[in-house]
Amino acid sequence: MKLETKGGARRMRLVAAACLAAISVGAMAMRPAVAQDASDAWAASVLGQMTQDEKFDLVRGSNPFAARPKLGAEVAKGAGYVKGVPRLGVPFLTESDASVGVANMTGGLRPGDVATALPSTALLASTWDARLVERGSAMIGAEARDKGFNVLLAGGVNLAREPRNGRNFEYFGEDPLLAGTLAGHAIRGVQSNHVMSTIKHFALNTQETGRTILTADMEQGALRESDLLAFEIGIEIGQPGSVMCAYNKINGVFGCENAFLLNDVLRRDWGYKGFVMSDWGAVHGPSIAQGLDQESGTTPADAGYFGAQLRAALAAGTVKQADLDQSVRRILRSIHAVGLADHPPAQKPIDYEANARVAQEVAEAGIVLLKNERQLLPIAASVRTILVVGGHADVGVLAGGGGSSQVNPVGGAALKLPAAFGKKLYSNSSPMVALRKAMPQARISFDDGSDPRRAAEAAGKADLVVVFGEQFTTETMDVKNLSLPDNQDALIAAVASANPATVVVLVTGGPVLMPWLDQVGAVLEAWYPGQRGGDAIARILTGQVNPSGRLAMTFPASESQLPNPTIPGYEMAGETVQRDLYGLPKDMKPFSVTYPEGANAGYRWFDHTGAKPLFPFGHGLSYTRFVYRNLRVAGGMRPRLSFAIANTGHRAGADVAQVYARVNGVKRLVGWSRVDLKPGESRLVSVEVDPRIMARFDVAANNWHLAAGTYDIEIGANVNQPSLKAKLRLDEQRIKP
Ligand code: BGC
Repeated sequence: MKLETKGGARRMRLVAAACLAAISVGAMAMRPAVAQDASDAWAASVLGQMTQDEKFDLVRGSNPFAARPKLGAEVAKGAGYVKGVPRLGVPFLTESDASVGVANMTGGLRPGDVATALPSTALLASTWDARLVERGSAMIGAEARDKGFNVLLAGGVNLAREPRNGRNFEYFGEDPLLAGTLAGHAIRGVQSNHVMSTIKHFALNTQETGRTILTADMEQGALRESDLLAFEIGIEIGQPGSVMCAYNKINGVFGCENAFLLNDVLRRDWGYKGFVMSDWGAVHGPSIAQGLDQESGTTPADAGYFGAQLRAALAAGTVKQADLDQSVRRILRSIHAVGLADHPPAQKPIDYEANARVAQEVAEAGIVLLKNERQLLPIAASVRTILVVGGHADVGVLAGGGGSSQVNPVGGAALKLPAAFGKKLYSNSSPMVALRKAMPQARISFDDGSDPRRAAEAAGKADLVVVFGEQFTTETMDVKNLSLPDNQDALIAAVASANPATVVVLVTGGPVLMPWLDQVGAVLEAWYPGQRGGDAIARILTGQVNPSGRLAMTFPASESQLPNPTIPGYEMAGETVQRDLYGLPKDMKPFSVTYPEGANAGYRWFDHTGAKPLFPFGHGLSYTRFVYRNLRVAGGMRPRLSFAIANTGHRAGADVAQVYARVNGVKRLVGWSRVDLKPGESRLVSVEVDPRIMARFDVAANNWHLAAGTYDIEIGANVNQPSLKAKLRLDEQRIKP
């Protein structure tokens, strides 16, 4: 279709978006397949046979532990369940958290249960590897199925625009293209088991402080170009059965009654055919006409808004029968589309050994080498004495962050420590034990780091020191600032001043400041590395694995560089320990969060302000060397760039070449390519650019507007390190959302 501009001079093309975005090699984004009419037909037929009570059952999820009469053992018990209609072949929905494994800690659920701890999503994001993310997520989806669950509440894709957000470990970083692509593949992996995934928390759930009472306020265009774009891409690729609406308000309206987001954006503009489920306790009324289809986590005592209140609203005529039927139809449709009815989960033995290997492979691909001077790493075979300090590295490594997603790892936690909210769990994979195995010739000792002076003295006598810096983050709480807690900066500085051959291993939920950076030789960011985290760390330290992770989040040099130098609302919440079920401190008053950065989250803000981060987005070192050559660009409706990546070093390894375009003066990631190369090997890669990434969202016209012009393109090893540059000429395009 062709449209005329007002002046009529230029032609604009309206792209019927049948097949959108090929973003990186192997990462194709597709519109939800239209050929799912069988699901529509099944849903319509089942709906026609349902009683009114059965319909009400389907739109309300409950706490399985509070069910009366008690549920039988055949219903797996986790975060929630929804009563099915067995006589019509509609299964119970048995829901478990979350994105990093089958969670079993919420409120002490299923004591004694264990599951494979996948590394944190922040680590998955740092792999930039869609296939691996899909494989890791398929593994946890299979565990969910074999534990009897048919819904995994995975798919967290809120942009990490607030680096102090306590839940960044559950998200895929700060860039909409990277986060959306990887989340889409994670969802695809989970659903490949006929286990339904969600995508969450829709939308702008950017911080935990005051999450249930704040309003996150952002102009629509900026929202569409950032956080909503991540969801849009994630839904296109992953086609999740459900979308989970967030606790917070967005521009003054709660996420679960936000008709603009749920009806206009999600359904009308994106053509989403699944259903919207609420976050737990995020409902404020029978908001079915506003686009919510299912309330989650109610108890018999409160019966929920989608119980008695919905019935009353229906009787009063404020909610129409057609609205209820539509919601039921959407839920049924997803049950069929993901194959829940035909492939019921069953409790089965799980091959935890095989699954641990997957978790380890993911960890090895997403740990990021931030600094490496004088080739301190990999640890030379000549090193005879190593001191390992802190982080309880003698017994394990932090298995994950806290909150609903927390996984009690296989083998049981090596250590459980109290935290401000919940418990810190350590997986049974000790970096020190793994180092000893990898370096039998070396004498490796441990100091717990509780006394910096003692640790420094021991450090002075070792050939090399590996000191751990850890930061536990959790749902319901943000971190106050980006400093490592508990005086660990002083410990690291003391150790490093006694021995410059100091390697720091960070085990954190997100970015931290590093006041000791100049004093240490090397820094490895291990995130929460999961079930076999210690082994993965040791294999990278010793060079059995070449580090290939790249930052999906900017590491700021100071909090003053951030759009909001302090977390909105934090001074009200403080470190209050008295919190309600959803983490809200007592007496906290509603407030608004504004985003000076708008669409320019993360590295885009740094590019816009010119601030120099500690480590830029995309950064990550390697033990080998990669060069980029022969850039070719082709414009047109689907711009394409091709170039060669060569491994010119002496080790095999993976590289992530990144493509950035300057749009309205600010750099945007428009694609990347992750390749494994042997020494001396070179490969030609090609990256197709999704024009939406380079477009502005035109709110008045309700479409994407890609302005005609010549765009600066850079290929580099991170956002601030361009190696190849080119100009890309593009015609004007209008693209339907
Ligand atoms: C979290 C969700 C989670 C749900 C169920 C909520 O508090 O925000 O991410 O899926 O609990 O446990």
